[in-house]
Amino acid sequence: MLNRHRIRAALPIGRFGGGFHFHRTIGSTNDEAVDLARRGAPEGTLVIADEQTTGRGRSGRRWFTPAGAALALSVVLRPGPEWVTGGGLMALGSLALAEALERDGLRPQIKWPNDVLVGGRKLAGVLVEAAWTGRHLDFAVCGIGVNVRPASVPPDQEVDYPATCVEAARGQRVDREDLLLAILTALDRWYSKMGSQEALQALEERLAFVDERVAIRTGSGQEMIGRVLGLAADGRLRLEAADGEVILIGAEGSHLRPLAA
Ligand code: BTN
Repeated sequence: MLNRHRIRAALPIGRFGGGFHFHRTIGSTNDEAVDLARRGAPEGTLVIADEQTTGRGRSGRRWFTPAGAALALSVVLRPGPEWVTGGGLMALGSLALAEALERDGLRPQIKWPNDVLVGGRKLAGVLVEAAWTGRHLDFAVCGIGVNVRPASVPPDQEVDYPATCVEAARGQRVDREDLLLAILTALDRWYSKMGSQEALQALEERLAFVDERVAIRTGSGQEMIGRVLGLAADGRLRLEAADGEVILIGAEGSHLRPLAA
């Protein structure tokens, strides 16, 4: 069980955790954060659970968070709307995760737009959900899930991508509270720098499958195949199609799948 007192004692971390909601078990921390945001919770409100019973991934997939083995957290954000539509918040979450894992000596890569891989296997993901009134963004919630211990790795038949966990990647026991606080520290640092050249460069340095062939299903359902070149200044993925044309792909709703060379 996560030590809520240790976590509380370290909060707030920058803008995060002034409001702190800890649950031993919950359906989904994103649902709880959405609910709090609707009732006016300020930016930085943090929801953490030791166990989720109905955790969600992107595209309505199930996200596995058994007790005592993973990290599941959600933060309320109130950024400009372009950070939701342009995928900036997914990038923020992925970058913060990657940086926090690097503290443990790992070499994470970001599988654009929202997954974190180590050694080619997924161990963390980001789910951004938002509420709109017309074109006005009411709020966004950035949910982060990390497989920490082996018990948090879902069975093969439940995943769309090979999975692992931080402890398997590191080969030693990991302190979940330390990792959680490192994620919040990195989130706060990069949130202040979102959209900067420095953030773009940090993302691009960690981008997986650069120079490799991938297939991408876009938010509008189009399927594209090409070679990953990197990121555009606005965070879209730069893909070189077979005819040499460079296509820019937005993150919202997009899914990337590597293709055999
Ligand atoms: C994905 O890879 O598809 C994203 C996974 C995001 C999971 C996290 S765990 C905390 C938060 N609560 C949820 O129900 N989902 C996110």
